[in-house]
Amino acid sequence: MQRISIRVKKIDYIIYKEIKKGASGEDVARKIEKSRVSVWKRIKKMREFVEIEAKKGYGYRIIHEKDPNPYAIAEAAFDFLGTEEVFYFRSTDSTNERAKKFSKPNILFFAEKQTEGRGRWGRRWESDLGGLYFSFTLKPHFEELQKITIVSGLAVAEAIMDLGLRAELKWPNDVLIDGKKVCGILCELSGTYEEPIVIVGVGINVRNKFENATSLCDYKVCSLNLVFKKFCESFQRISNLSWREIILRYKNFCKTSGKFVRVLTPHGVVEGFAEIDDDGALLVNGRKILAGDCLHLR
Ligand code: BTN
Repeated sequence: MQRISIRVKKIDYIIYKEIKKGASGEDVARKIEKSRVSVWKRIKKMREFVEIEAKKGYGYRIIHEKDPNPYAIAEAAFDFLGTEEVFYFRSTDSTNERAKKFSKPNILFFAEKQTEGRGRWGRRWESDLGGLYFSFTLKPHFEELQKITIVSGLAVAEAIMDLGLRAELKWPNDVLIDGKKVCGILCELSGTYEEPIVIVGVGINVRNKFENATSLCDYKVCSLNLVFKKFCESFQRISNLSWREIILRYKNFCKTSGKFVRVLTPHGVVEGFAEIDDDGALLVNGRKILAGDCLHLR
């Protein structure tokens, strides 16, 4: 029977990694310090997404994986995002909402589709099957909202470049290919005053189609598992850089500099030529804008 949601814990991640290497049931049991029966029970659940062959004397072998596969998603998140637990949904309202309700750092919420996907500035985010929809939570230390906004956009742009495609950024973190939006990111501050968390919600069009936007599949066939892994690798790589290096790379990708823009800010509309400053803020007519919805007019 198909499960509606899957919780992937560290133990499942270790089992999946071992099976990928081709370990026997005994090896896996030893590794996780549990009985062979408990390994077998977890592998049985894994089989909903991963076709596993078990040969006497040889051990387990992966023959085929679904796309997306919660175990491959969890592997990338555990390896590169510092995630400690994964909640994987066949369908949910919004992964950002899930993250808000759970309100703990280092958790990944991933959905095959969303019924109430949220975009920036109260917009709706179309979330049919075929796209990537996920939110991960972090403790906000160096990652102030402004910085994490820049880092996450850059991470997607570099991940797309790692896939062999050319991406651009529109301030602050819309990712475009050939001038059309391929990814949107919604970063939110949540949690309590004592324990705040940052939620990074990412939506990437992979093989879902839109009229005014674009999808990776318009350029290259790629699996959701692979695109997600590329994002995680890129996010980790960028998080380890100095802010100076991050902003340098960001400016290289960001096409907003030098454009005549109209920005809808919480304090009104601003129009003029734009520049990006060293904090990742937008400068228009000498005014520093930290948050807003930016339109490139020319
Ligand atoms: C934008 O407006 O550009 C931001 C879109 C962010 C969409 C993602 S999909 C995963 C996460 N859950 C949501 O409801 N929104 C974000």
